[in-house]
Amino acid sequence: MNPFALTPGSVGIRFGAGAINQLPEVLVGLKKNKVLIITDPGVAGAGVLAQVEAILKSAGIQNTSFAEIKPNPNTLLIDAAAKVGIEFGADVVLALGGGSSLDSAKGVALVVANPTFSSASFNYSITPEKPAIPIIAIPTTSGTGSETNSWGVIDDPIRQCKFYVGDASTTPVVAILDPELTVGLPARSTAGTGIDALTHAIESLTSKGSTAVSAAYAHQAIKLISKALPVAFKDGANVDARGEMLMGAHLAGLALTLSGLGLVHGVAHSVSATVGTAHGEALATVLPEVMEFNSRVSNDIYASIGHDMGIAANSATVISAVRDLADEIQIRNKLSHYGVTQDLVQAISKKVLEDSVTSNNPIDPTQSEVESILLSRI
Ligand SMILES: [Fe+2]
Repeated sequence: MNPFALTPGSVGIRFGAGAINQLPEVLVGLKKNKVLIITDPGVAGAGVLAQVEAILKSAGIQNTSFAEIKPNPNTLLIDAAAKVGIEFGADVVLALGGGSSLDSAKGVALVVANPTFSSASFNYSITPEKPAIPIIAIPTTSGTGSETNSWGVIDDPIRQCKFYVGDASTTPVVAILDPELTVGLPARSTAGTGIDALTHAIESLTSKGSTAVSAAYAHQAIKLISKALPVAFKDGANVDARGEMLMGAHLAGLALTLSGLGLVHGVAHSVSATVGTAHGEALATVLPEVMEFNSRVSNDIYASIGHDMGIAANSATVISAVRDLADEIQIRNKLSHYGVTQDLVQAISKKVLEDSVTSNNPIDPTQSEVESILLSRI
């Protein structure tokens, strides 16, 4: 791959080992010099926050940070982070971390620009008075692809629901994809975020919203991820594999942003909401089974995925290979492992059908078909 290339999307990217050192030049290009860093305690503990702060300090760029982002971030946390930025007079948000930090930064950037509002307001139903301050995304995991799009999935504790925070102005202007920042990711997180990225690419290809452009991104993502994920899982310090995973997740993010996803995500959202399973692990419980369910209409697409994976090009072989890959990175368990019992299957299936992501699946499943998939994994 060509380091430091630009992607033909709306997000400018700086890619390659050491790309983080280009941060000052990116900020100068944007004419921004008061940086609010949004991150989580894990990234701070791993020394990555200190590394970024040192780069900014040596370039004479003022910055402050909010390092308290948690999994499943909510509006109260985002409003607290924005308060730090408002008091500092931030003119740019640097989103540093996994999906939670990147998603949160979108709400933060809107509230900093519109300080009389809560992030709960910015759910695409209103046009903000002012556009968000710009966001620079620096992912430290290779999974969500959140750096490619304008929305973040956020909990609203008042309305007791998840919603999409964001606006047209919250697509990051630049993503810095530096594999050296991801070498400290533990193997289990590498597997969980990596299977998420692979699922994004596979579901993007079979979704009703797939286009020639999204398919181009998705096929390249599968080529990179299917080769690099087992390597990055076994040897986290392998910078080449980490780079291929970062680029693969980014391309899969571009693909899903154009096409949408499908039933694997519908099941995972419902399972996670019911028993708290981590996103990637929930996806892995049913990914091959949903592929089998879809195969009567998606056979040719699965065969083309075989070409991407460098294996014999027929649907059944590809589904087996995806199952083997998930087993190789030790991410695939039965649903019962996470506390899903037969008693919960009906309620979980109902939520799967209510999730808008499911309506993008190539086959509209019935409730009994979803129940059968779930029961086969208990
Ligand atoms: Fe996902």
